[in-house]
Amino acid sequence: MKNLSIAVLKGDGIGPEVTNEAIKVLQTVAQKFGHQFIFEEALVGAAAIFDSGDPLPEKTLDICKANDVILFGAIGHPDFDNNPNATIRPEQGLLQLRKELNLFLNIRPVKAYDALLDKSPLKEAIINGVDLKIYRELTGGIYFGEKKLSEDGKLASDLCSYQVFEIERVAHLAFKAASKCKQKLTLVDKANVLETSRLWRRITSDVATHYPTIQFETLFVDNAAMQLILNPQQFDVILTSNLFGDILSDEASVIGGSLGLLPSASIGDEYAMFEPVHGSYYSATGKGIANPMAAILSAAMMLEHVNLLDEAKAIQSAVNMALNQQIVTEDIDPQYGKPTNIVGDFIVNVINKL
Ligand code: IPM
Ligand code: MN
Repeated sequence: MKNLSIAVLKGDGIGPEVTNEAIKVLQTVAQKFGHQFIFEEALVGAAAIFDSGDPLPEKTLDICKANDVILFGAIGHPDFDNNPNATIRPEQGLLQLRKELNLFLNIRPVKAYDALLDKSPLKEAIINGVDLKIYRELTGGIYFGEKKLSEDGKLASDLCSYQVFEIERVAHLAFKAASKCKQKLTLVDKANVLETSRLWRRITSDVATHYPTIQFETLFVDNAAMQLILNPQQFDVILTSNLFGDILSDEASVIGGSLGLLPSASIGDEYAMFEPVHGSYYSATGKGIANPMAAILSAAMMLEHVNLLDEAKAIQSAVNMALNQQIVTEDIDPQYGKPTNIVGDFIVNVINKL
């Protein structure tokens, strides 16, 4: 029996509805396996701005720190997306959270599910068997460098910088992951142009010498973007910087057939947060069409993180079962898609019957 306290930040758009399904699944797992999971909710993003003017209130940060792990929904709201002059934005809440909790690594596994091979716009022969992980640096690079806008509004700049320790810590974790997977690590960078990329290459090559059994390769990001859809089977662990990882992970979601399937883990030395990759998808809010699987699979990654491996597997096989039996939302099956809560209920029932 395990006691696990979970901070729940449902956020904006479809965040609350998909997170509710993940909580339902977690409660089922707790009951089934005899654990106690406690949930504590807090506001973040646009929801927090409307409440207090702050996308990451102090209280929310405290709640994140006080609990064992964090379950995150989504962030983003059209009021801010469509207003380039907004000085406070929901996304700042997420970026600040990553920084404050030192969540320096984001892990995004991408799988081609057998049941969905014909759903991807990519050919079956190309995606069959793909099982890769993107290891994205999350608290550095151009996301967090100094930002400038000249007074006349005619010049802007974003600084990209990396320090050795920021690269080393994610590189070690990526090599360790590769040693548990297919023994291959691909560093994606732009070392033919960027000084920061050359530092990534030098440091990652040094780290590679500690893992002699891992096949270590490098790819320029433009080529990697092409290889990801031309021949994704070649990849195991992809290690890359913050911005490249952001872009490549959305691209890679095409392999799985839907962005609504991609879970993620953001980890640091002290804290860990689990979050679907898809974002707030505001136009779908409250319509019951959001795919809860990414949130549910993020909950499974959370359980893996706290070493509840059988429990995580139970969730993953229940999701697989839903995919196999086509109990899926409309992003996967536009004609016969089921509502969000029906997909969640099905997964809950499968776990109950295990
Ligand atoms: C993601 C998102 C965020 C990012 C946004 C919402 C700030 O796109 O988690 O991939 O760019 O990191
Ligand atoms: Mn993104």
